[in-house]
Amino acid sequence: MNERIRADFPILKDIIYMDSAATSLTPEPVLEAVLSYYREYNANVGRGVHRLSQVASQKYQNAHRKVAEFIGAKEGEVIFTKNTTEAINMVAYGLRWTKGDEIVTTLLEHHSNFLPWLRLKEKGVSLKIVKPSKSGIFDISDFEHAIGDRTKLVAVTQVSNVLGTISPIKEMAAICKETGGGNDTLFLVDGAQSVPHIPINVEELGCDFLAFSGHKMLGPTGTGVLWMRDPDGLEPTFFGGGMIETVSRDDYTLTGGYERFEAGTPHISGGIGLGRAVDYLNDVGMERIRVHEERLAKKLIEGLLGIEKVQVYGSTNLSERIGVVSFTVEGLHPHDIALMLDEASDILVRSGHHCCMPLMHYLGLDDGTVRASVYLYNTKEEVDTFLELVEGIAKVV
Ligand code: ALA
Repeated sequence: MNERIRADFPILKDIIYMDSAATSLTPEPVLEAVLSYYREYNANVGRGVHRLSQVASQKYQNAHRKVAEFIGAKEGEVIFTKNTTEAINMVAYGLRWTKGDEIVTTLLEHHSNFLPWLRLKEKGVSLKIVKPSKSGIFDISDFEHAIGDRTKLVAVTQVSNVLGTISPIKEMAAICKETGGGNDTLFLVDGAQSVPHIPINVEELGCDFLAFSGHKMLGPTGTGVLWMRDPDGLEPTFFGGGMIETVSRDDYTLTGGYERFEAGTPHISGGIGLGRAVDYLNDVGMERIRVHEERLAKKLIEGLLGIEKVQVYGSTNLSERIGVVSFTVEGLHPHDIALMLDEASDILVRSGHHCCMPLMHYLGLDDGTVRASVYLYNTKEEVDTFLELVEGIAKVV
């Protein structure tokens, strides 16, 4: 990646940012798009006939189209949410559950793709949890055994936010179709860590829902996305302004399109900023980003594996993982390592359980891990500095 890209992230002049799995940095063109909404056409959307409302509505709608195209979907299938968590909760609240329904999920999941399903226990819905190997790799036959006649939904992350491993989504989708016992087994994919880093096409994936966050893919915070194959198959979670055709004293009819699921004034500038982020990623090229990150991940993993007292988690096979790398240093708490990296060299990483307590428990890592995660703006030189620091820290323990 070149200097031109780095110039779009002036915040990088003082730091080495390796926490993009938590939230990515925001390039100048996205900031400009957000500001130009407030400066030039600040108005509500879908509610006014005046000129500013028309411009804002058109731009907000364009942003939905851009995001849909980015994942190979049609415009009416994409709705904007606050984040991945809200998108997944909208599926949990919007499907009709019956006592005895089953959900299949995995031990790799972020709490946001776990708690919404666990909560459904109170409706008589049970959870089957498929375990990956300790390096985060699934045996696909475990899904064949877990998915059965009563499975209403399978909910799996495409990329682990702890181990960086990529799940075999297409194979899982095929099992959902074949083994649902004649019932429709719906398949939800948590794309929070995949959509920002890997070229994605929902038709090729074969899932029914894809949830992801705008703020992890250069967009503003407070932006997320839910794609659904069949918007008529989901009830809206929120009711109020902007999502109806008619309302009487006793009844209402809902409108169609994304507005049906976005009650109330949405995060207009955020949505428009997300549309601009998608343009930015397309201009750089998702294939190019994937190759760049793979090189950085290789360097990171090989470097860490070569340091005494450092333990690296997740598969070391680069074709089945992305640049999210978890590690520990014997004798040190992950938070202490993260603080040392920040204080000594302005290197910013995440540490702790990464909102994945069941996985951490399974791996025997109750203090969690240190997690370095890279994106298009990171460089080989930054990885070298990071590795030197970790080596220095491991030596003094
Ligand atoms: N889901 C984000 C992470 O893994 C916040 O850090």
